[in-house]
Amino acid sequence: MTTPIIRPLAELSALVRGWKAAGETIGVVPTMGALHEGHLSLVRAAKAGCDRVIVTLFVNPRQFNNAEDFAKYPRTEHADAALLAPLSVDALFVPDAAEIYPPDHATVVSVSGVTAPLEGAYRPGHFDGVATVVTLLLNMTGADRAYFGEKDWQQLQLVRRLVADLKLPCEIVPCPCVRAEDGLALSSRNQRLDPEARARAAALPQALFAAARVIEAGGQVEAALAEARAGLDAAGVGPVDYLELRDGESLGPARPGQPARLLVAAWLDGVRLIDNVAVATG
Ligand code: PAF
Repeated sequence: MTTPIIRPLAELSALVRGWKAAGETIGVVPTMGALHEGHLSLVRAAKAGCDRVIVTLFVNPRQFNNAEDFAKYPRTEHADAALLAPLSVDALFVPDAAEIYPPDHATVVSVSGVTAPLEGAYRPGHFDGVATVVTLLLNMTGADRAYFGEKDWQQLQLVRRLVADLKLPCEIVPCPCVRAEDGLALSSRNQRLDPEARARAAALPQALFAAARVIEAGGQVEAALAEARAGLDAAGVGPVDYLELRDGESLGPARPGQPARLLVAAWLDGVRLIDNVAVATG
């Protein structure tokens, strides 16, 4: 089956109205394209949980705080549609930027707290862009459930907060991070690594998982993080923007006995990689 590509919002709205009238549930997988197995795992989860599945593909200019990153973001719509074909999604919604953000568009959705540290500190405006477009996408698609990867852990916490605070009638379904055989979290940005850098990138999850194991075994957090930084340095991965143990939900300081998350962002040959792992603290 080929993937039905829908561009005008009016066309999507007509489909959504029909599905709702028939009492069908709608699952949505928001993406910026350059699809990989991580996205496909979200689509499979949506297919298993909903009557209809919409994948959205929109490279959202408002969430890029760096014009070069936006320009270089891979755009592979035909390949994306082909990858989705065997999964039989009901629509691939590829809106025009002019329809998402018409010239008189003046509303910014901003989630505080959870967005302040980590990515928020390094990418000013990024999370306002994400919160605004996710609100638009959930509204436009009439999503009953929306599927987000745990790879973007801070984004997932933002979306949960947003949906709870705005009382949006949508369930957020988190899906596990999908990793390559060497442990690197799948990401559209990995395509920008040459084979030599791609091989070195495995040091990132290795350092992250090793530090998590040390902390879980009762080791000193600071010592574990220093060891991880040294490992990244030795592998030629860096600079490291952050490597921090945080509370898993609020992303504030980690609290003893509460689920924690170890999160990292680091550069490799001009490509910024992020990753995270759960840490059970005693
Ligand atoms: O995770 C992404 O790909 C994007 O941030 C999202 C959720 C599709 C919003 O543009």
